[in-house]
Amino acid sequence: MSGLQPNRESFGSRFGVIAATAGSAIGLGNIWRFPYVAGENGGAAFIILYLGFVIAIGIPVMLSEFTIGRRAQQNVYGSFRKLAPKQPWYLIGLMGVAAAFMILAFYTAVAGWTLEYLYQSIVNGFAGKSPDELNMMFDYFVGGTSRPLIWFFVFMGLTAFIIMAGVKNGIEKSTKILMPLLLILLLVLIVRSVTLPGAGKGISFLLRPDFSKITASTVLVALGQAFFSLSIGMGTLVTYGSYIKKSENLGSTAFSVAMADTLIAVLAGLAIFPAVFAFNIEPGYGEGLVFVTLPNIFQQMPGGTIFSVMFFILLGVAALTSTISVLEVIVAFFVEELKMKRKAATWLATFSVSILGILCVLSTSSLADFKILGHTIFSLLENTTANVLLPLGGMFIVIFVAWFFGRQNVVDELSNDGKLKARYVPLFMFIIKFVAPLAIAFVFLQGIGLINLK
Ligand code: TRP
Repeated sequence: MSGLQPNRESFGSRFGVIAATAGSAIGLGNIWRFPYVAGENGGAAFIILYLGFVIAIGIPVMLSEFTIGRRAQQNVYGSFRKLAPKQPWYLIGLMGVAAAFMILAFYTAVAGWTLEYLYQSIVNGFAGKSPDELNMMFDYFVGGTSRPLIWFFVFMGLTAFIIMAGVKNGIEKSTKILMPLLLILLLVLIVRSVTLPGAGKGISFLLRPDFSKITASTVLVALGQAFFSLSIGMGTLVTYGSYIKKSENLGSTAFSVAMADTLIAVLAGLAIFPAVFAFNIEPGYGEGLVFVTLPNIFQQMPGGTIFSVMFFILLGVAALTSTISVLEVIVAFFVEELKMKRKAATWLATFSVSILGILCVLSTSSLADFKILGHTIFSLLENTTANVLLPLGGMFIVIFVAWFFGRQNVVDELSNDGKLKARYVPLFMFIIKFVAPLAIAFVFLQGIGLINLK
């Protein structure tokens, strides 16, 4: 076990902490996944439910991760080793590192698609194509091998480049530029979308709740989406928490980041649905929403090319500030546990993630028929992480903080040793002791199919 490290890096400013952490949370989960999941599950009613989960469970899990990381000042595995020496809690950390490999592999594959679509936007590749042709274009692209592989490596390279530069000069510096850029692009796209003739139906779809659409399975989808979107359950935020200075307010940071993440998801919906309804397209289009439906809209819309370019830059930026947070989990682990230099650790992590990543990329082409338990490698990784590893990790993390780390340590850490009031601690303790573990256990059992509420 390593002791105090005087040279350990940290985020330099409060805005830097928020930019990096919100950068991790805001990603493909908000802009690609949230709109179609909300669209399929009742729009506004789903959003209300989702918001409830973010506040009641998401923020407490996030705060638990920050607490562990900032107290231990270590990577996710080292943090549990340090706070609970000679006890098996470090297995949560190992599971987190394993989950990081798996998430990064399939997530970077999708992130690569955004670069292809950015390229197609620039060369006007959607022009004059019918909806069917755009669908075929997507299938043809993901069904190929060389282009998706090239874009995968470009995206991995960008991610590794930022991580090599370090916590302050890489992660913090890049997210401080990229996150405001993302917000500006999104606001411009919303203005374009809501001013299209017929946009009103899309707005009311998002803002007028229809509770008859809520079923037991919708509830679980909402909780799963909250986990994925907030980047919780695998130690990304333990790792980032270890870079947060002792003077920062963890409670307000977690609250701000969760609110920013939710706001961006809803704003992404506001950019997408008015346009979808204005062009009379079905809202529940699924995964193809941003890669098939949106190009269809862009090529019919005045000024579509420029908005298309902006949208795919937005998507790429959102993905990049998330991939760096996942790679950092692995790199911090290699640096501290294998005593590697940051550069070497980044190479090793990038190389080993790429092996798994290549298998994910090829899951839509040459390996499409290679199935494990009925899943391609891509969907196996996506499903085991989202439905199994994240909920399980999140559940053990809150149990660890509530029942092992204990109230006094929590009070010390959240009040910065008495300097802050942190009046929310009793409520927080109640949630992480009882509410969150039970709710998460419920989703987990549903996820692995042990209980099935339709
Ligand atoms: N939250 C990101 C998104 O919504 C993805 C992500 C980054 C993530 N780090 C994570 C998901 C850690 C789960 C765990 O796109």
